[in-house]
Amino acid sequence: MIRSIQLAAALAALIGTAARAAPETYALPEPTAQFRAPSDPGQALGFQAVQENCMTCHSADYVAMQPPRKGSAFWGAEVTKMIKVYHAPIEAQQAEAIAAYLGATY
Ligand code: HEC
Repeated sequence: MIRSIQLAAALAALIGTAARAAPETYALPEPTAQFRAPSDPGQALGFQAVQENCMTCHSADYVAMQPPRKGSAFWGAEVTKMIKVYHAPIEAQQAEAIAAYLGATY
């Protein structure tokens, strides 16, 4: 009997402590591994296509690491390489939208 009373008291103390604990907060790093939002609303389709097709194998950092302002022809070749060499399952129409978006945004 005494034991169970002690146990109940210990449990109550424990639960009380947990409830009083201050919530943890974390400062998250900048989300660098995301694709940049397009500045031109006309690139919304390509932005969506890139998110749906280009992060299954690697992060968006692979795009951000390339030299800037290479244009859509460069990005078109890059997307073709992903399809031909690495067998990325991307439709031709989406590939075109992706190249246009990347050319305009990076
Ligand atoms: C089927 C898997 C796959 C998909 C999907 C994919 N990639 Fe890749 N990607 C790779 C592999 C594998 C590499 C080479 C990794 C390495 O060399 O470390 C790569 C590398 C890259 C690079 C680095 C430069 C280079 O040519 O190696 C870029 C840029 C890139 N991918 C962009 C894209 C874009 C844009 C898309 C969407 C259209 C995409 N990837 C979708 C597999 C994929």
